[in-house]
Amino acid sequence: QRVARLAAHFSGGLQEPEEGLHAQNTSAPGDGYNVAVLGAAGGIGQPLSLLLKLSSRVRELRLYDVANTAGVAGDLSHISTAAHVTAHTGPQQLGDALYGAHLVVIPAGVPRKPGMTRDDLFNINAGIVRTLVEGVARYCPGAWLAVISNPVNSTVPIAAEVLKRAGVFNPARLFGVTSLDVVRAETFVAQALGVDPAGVHVPVIGGHAGITILPVLSAATPPLALPEERQRALMARIQDAGTEVVQAKAGAGSATLSMAHAAARFAEACLRAMSGEAGVVECAYVASSLTPQPYFASQLRLGPAGIAEFLPLPRLTPLERDNYERMQEELRTSIQKGLDFAARQ
Ligand code: NAD
Ligand code: LMR
Repeated sequence: QRVARLAAHFSGGLQEPEEGLHAQNTSAPGDGYNVAVLGAAGGIGQPLSLLLKLSSRVRELRLYDVANTAGVAGDLSHISTAAHVTAHTGPQQLGDALYGAHLVVIPAGVPRKPGMTRDDLFNINAGIVRTLVEGVARYCPGAWLAVISNPVNSTVPIAAEVLKRAGVFNPARLFGVTSLDVVRAETFVAQALGVDPAGVHVPVIGGHAGITILPVLSAATPPLALPEERQRALMARIQDAGTEVVQAKAGAGSATLSMAHAAARFAEACLRAMSGEAGVVECAYVASSLTPQPYFASQLRLGPAGIAEFLPLPRLTPLERDNYERMQEELRTSIQKGLDFAARQ
């Protein structure tokens, strides 16, 4: 272990990497990137780690969890791809997982059961995200950070506050992962159009819960011409798709496989942008000044240093505008809840 020997003088038992504090991970190595998955042994973490192991852009895949990490890493390490897999278990090994990471993906936390809202996860997941992001601030403050843990509308503001407090917040590199909403929108729109989803694009803006998920069907390509009632039904299907999976799993958790795909797609987009590829555009929930809310999901052009451009919000139809107006209060409340939590610590 690289970090095992030094300094237990930080709170929470985190240990210091040998190479020193606050390494800035801004370089674009030709032989790939170091990616850390925090919560790697979970329902999302395992298939996400599998997909990342298959990526030629990943040099080191660091798997961190509070349990079962060695087994997952041992299993994945037998796959004949170049990415080198390492296992890190428990807070004492968080520094090893993070030191030198270019991208950190966080799917750690509890998932919903039927009857729960994402906000019902706040009490457990807020603290998990806070602790893990404290590690990010300490060990890889320059890394791009993609937060999956729910409620995303609140956990991203918490992550931002933790990074701000440590003096390392870079709003261009903190993302709430909303790619699953985009993936679902593409799938359902493709079904409505009777076309291959691979050629379908749908911006999804707002946040990641209920009516804060606003699929802008009027901006879909290829264009979608549906009567208003069918548009409403399609929007509702996309907004409720997470609940659809939670109910189908009947107590065994929420979306994991589709989420792993969506997160791997987002991670790959980050790595492509980091390496200088032009034209990388993704939707994500980020610190934003596009709307009255300080955090908002929208289309972003990613560049080597993070968010390079906020694409303007698509023009909304009256139906979409109505949803946009109705989401504001929920989004505001969820963001404030995250900020209040962070302020109490
Ligand atoms: P899971 O219970 O299967 O896995 C969670 C993993 O996190 C477990 O392996 C657990 O050991 C680990 N963990 C718990 N506390 C930890 C800590 N302090 N440090 C590191 N790891 C820790 O859950 P899941 O199905 O993988 O879902 C994880 C989270 O992702 C949930 O909050 C869920 O709501 C969320 N999620 C978000 C989206 C999205 O679109 N953003 C989609 C699906 C699920
Ligand atoms: C999803 O959209 O599938 C996730 O946010 C998990 C959930 O609780 O619905």
